[in-house]
Amino acid sequence: MTIDPAKFRHVLAIESSCDETAVAIVQDGRRVLSGCIISQAQVHAAYGGVVPEIASRAHVSAVDPLMTQALEEAQLDWKDIDAVAVTNGPGLVGALLVGVSAAKALAYALGVPLVGVHHIEGHISANYIAHPELEPPFCALIASGGHTHLAEVLDYGVYRLLGCTRDDAAGEAFDKAAKLLGLPYPGGPSIEKAAQGGDPAAFPFPRAMRRAGCDFSFSGLKTAMWQQVQAFKGETLPVADLAASFQQAVVDTLVEKTILAMRTTGHTRVALCGGVASNTCLRRALQKKCDEHGFTLYVPPARLCTDNAEMIGAAGYYRLQKGERAGLDLNAVPHSPLPGLTD
Ligand code: KG4
Ligand code: ZN
Repeated sequence: MTIDPAKFRHVLAIESSCDETAVAIVQDGRRVLSGCIISQAQVHAAYGGVVPEIASRAHVSAVDPLMTQALEEAQLDWKDIDAVAVTNGPGLVGALLVGVSAAKALAYALGVPLVGVHHIEGHISANYIAHPELEPPFCALIASGGHTHLAEVLDYGVYRLLGCTRDDAAGEAFDKAAKLLGLPYPGGPSIEKAAQGGDPAAFPFPRAMRRAGCDFSFSGLKTAMWQQVQAFKGETLPVADLAASFQQAVVDTLVEKTILAMRTTGHTRVALCGGVASNTCLRRALQKKCDEHGFTLYVPPARLCTDNAEMIGAAGYYRLQKGERAGLDLNAVPHSPLPGLTD
């Protein structure tokens, strides 16, 4: 792909697909000048999960101040912004609409190009920021609260899907299991913390769909956790052992399928991304397997694994360089497949 380094030097990016409002300014597609975020996790924790209407309202009050803050932290002026990138799907429609509306207003006011970014492409692109040397092609495991995908990244914005979850996403499984254990939302970090000191072999949680290629299934694991909890009939739960065993089952499945994807495609580089990628047990286990097979693993720092706007700026930059532009009719698309999929 041809890059014109004189174009789109400063992209202002907005992310509001779920419960984080984030604005970042990214220089030349890979260098973060500012990254500002307001997490609503505490607000939703009281309800045990994200409440869409509350999320939308919180985005409305956060997005404007965050845009100003991002500009100040980058030490830039509005006239220095060359383009605006925004997550326009998938996600919660009301939440997405806030970011999309703000991005359209800003692009119109500044007279600069606008581009919509697919949230999953954003997660993959977090690796471009963390690893300046990384260029396609490579394999990617995307494990977040709403998605679990294994894909080949053939070029910027060109993907071949190798497999995905047939039911729950890996992060969703963590969130639901945590709820069953009485642990706070978001469940992934809670399970990881609770698992410390627990025995990962204490409970025989299933490793599903072993013979289903690169597809995943996590709903049976959630049911298995429910059954284990019921078996204690209200007595004190061995939370550390349950959390550690559950975490190990998710990690084993993600690692096994990723290595399968690498072996079937012949790629030697794999990028891990999405909120679940911040899990230390997963990072260590995948690193160990990659070392054994001679594969190179790329993982962003934890702050770039969960939702952020830096990744949207990086993804938007490459779409802009390809000549892509969104009009002021850009809409939020709550359910949308990864763009640029090829057979
Ligand atoms: O990518 P992300 O921030 O939002 C979505 O696009 O969904 O991912 C959020 C998901 C949640 O399900 C959360 O429980 C999970 O990532 N997560 C983790 C960890 N940190 C976040 N899962 C396991 N271990 C973690 N340390
Ligand atoms: Zn995400």
